[in-house]
Amino acid sequence: MSDTAHQTTPKTPEDITADVLASFDQTDDPRLREIMQALVRHLHGFVQEVGLIPAEWETAIGVLTRTGHITDERRQEFILWSDSLGVSMLVDALENTVPPGATESTVQGPFYVPGSPLREYGANIAEEPDDGVPALVHGRVLDLDGDPIAGAEVDVWQNGADQLYAVQKPEAEEDHLRGRFITREDGSYAFVAVRPTPYPIPYDGPVGKMLDLTGRHPWRPAHVHIIIRADGYRTLTTHVFDVESKYLDSDAVFAVKPSLTRQFVTHSPDDPDTPEGVTTEWVSVENDLVLAPRT
Ligand code: BEZ
Ligand code: FE
Repeated sequence: MSDTAHQTTPKTPEDITADVLASFDQTDDPRLREIMQALVRHLHGFVQEVGLIPAEWETAIGVLTRTGHITDERRQEFILWSDSLGVSMLVDALENTVPPGATESTVQGPFYVPGSPLREYGANIAEEPDDGVPALVHGRVLDLDGDPIAGAEVDVWQNGADQLYAVQKPEAEEDHLRGRFITREDGSYAFVAVRPTPYPIPYDGPVGKMLDLTGRHPWRPAHVHIIIRADGYRTLTTHVFDVESKYLDSDAVFAVKPSLTRQFVTHSPDDPDTPEGVTTEWVSVENDLVLAPRT
């Protein structure tokens, strides 16, 4: 007969935690053991700290169930939880400690679709009419010494004036407002886009309900997403933020880093540098990107 069968004192909450922790002692993979035991310690600590009652436990199960039901290949509510609770940024911060001078990283977000079309230097990434202000985004990809990196891939995507990414609109051109560019000999890249606008993260699901109940808003400040890949360098996933945007100090996913904000400069249509096809007022933003070497 086991010791447990003879135990006469009532089992305490601490006994339960100790039993669950011990159940992972035989896990072969030491990293998996560490993760599972830390998860149990923190989860049990959380339940104890707030004194979780059965009705609240049931609510939590309902939230997780609805999160699973709303998630599919186009909608990832689990990542949205991670983003809105700051976990995505924390994981990124632990993985990507950048050397001084390198461009900082930030969240990728759920709207990245691999395989954007390769486009020519200076091309327009809008595949359909957009009501936004045309924007020229340009700069150079550099190493830590300030030398140009030729042949780097600059993969960009952004929302349009309607606040949406093409992947959120089944009727939109698949490649609307996204593209890949290869840097020239001097490290330069350029593309024409539209000035990004603030937009809300999807708030019609459990994350939106949490934001609502806690008095938080779902808005992200205006930004363009960029991933830069180059042989011998760490891949960088980042944004360029419009320094004049609303919500820079209250991003719903905590992804703003002051070093990533840039001024968008307004130009008239008769400016000699007006990009081809642009007939209205437009803006430009210069954004150099500095890569850290692969270690
Ligand atoms: C985005 O910037 O695309 C994004 C990031 C996190 C959550 C939702 C959207
Ligand atoms: Fe975004």
